[in-house]
Amino acid sequence: MQAQKLKTWTNTLHAAMNPDMVRVMIGKALRRLRRGKGQLTPQENKLWLKSQAQDLGDLLKKFDSDLQEETRAFAARFKKHANEILSAIPYDLGGGGGVPLLYILVRKFLPAVVVETGVAAGFSSGTILTALDKNGAGHLFSSDFPYFRLPNPERFVGVVVEPGLKSRWSLHLKGDEVNLPQIMANLPAKINLFHYDSDKSYDGRDFAMKAVRPHLAENAIVIMDDIQDNSYFHDYVTANPDVTWSVYYYEGKYIGLIGRVL
Ligand SMILES: C[S@@+](CC[C@H](N)C(=O)[O-])C[C@H]1O[C@@H](n2cnc3c(N)ncnc32)[C@H](O)[C@@H]1O
Repeated sequence: MQAQKLKTWTNTLHAAMNPDMVRVMIGKALRRLRRGKGQLTPQENKLWLKSQAQDLGDLLKKFDSDLQEETRAFAARFKKHANEILSAIPYDLGGGGGVPLLYILVRKFLPAVVVETGVAAGFSSGTILTALDKNGAGHLFSSDFPYFRLPNPERFVGVVVEPGLKSRWSLHLKGDEVNLPQIMANLPAKINLFHYDSDKSYDGRDFAMKAVRPHLAENAIVIMDDIQDNSYFHDYVTANPDVTWSVYYYEGKYIGLIGRVL
């Protein structure tokens, strides 16, 4: 246990020697100190989410039945493939964002430009890239900040993404604070789909939405994972009454969605 703790500290210190990484690490630590931020307390936020949420499965059932079947088959195949890869890695890289929701939306709306934050093992990236590949068009821009507690964490980012899908992928690893301005400055067109699944703090979400919002296409869809963590999603949709939004319950968590999907 002591040896493991020492290793974690050594890896963290190693990451802190890199000036790009240290900037993001300090930002993350400061945001952690301001955890209480938001119009609702965590309990109020959970009650609000519970009162608004629909089951994700019920939403999926409203899509075309062939697309539902294709989505189910992909999710099962991808889970098996990812488990095989992850079982050979001695670290917990965490689970994935809403795989069926991402797959069905990318297949239905054929987005040309997709941006996501939070890659980790790559469940969301692999899902989006598979659906783009099936569409035969589109590009994914991803922002991540590798888990600095692990040794050489870059090698695990996106491990479950199949190599043959990477030609449609631009992966940035310097943290949202550095990556998002860079990605926004080099977009080939407006963003059709934005998936947020990185820094779950209030300020992290706020930073990303402010960076991305001017670049969203008119009918863009925004998906925000784990919105039970603080009331950012609630505060955002309350402050912007013109947006269409919905909340979904999926595998013990809440996903916020902005935009029309049906
Ligand atoms: C929940 S995981 C993402 C899961 C992924 N979407 C999937 O479906 O497999 C969160 C990821 O965000 C990264 N992250 C945390 N803070 C970040 C930041 N400030 N900028 C970019 N990525 C960050 C973490 O290191 C981790 O890789």
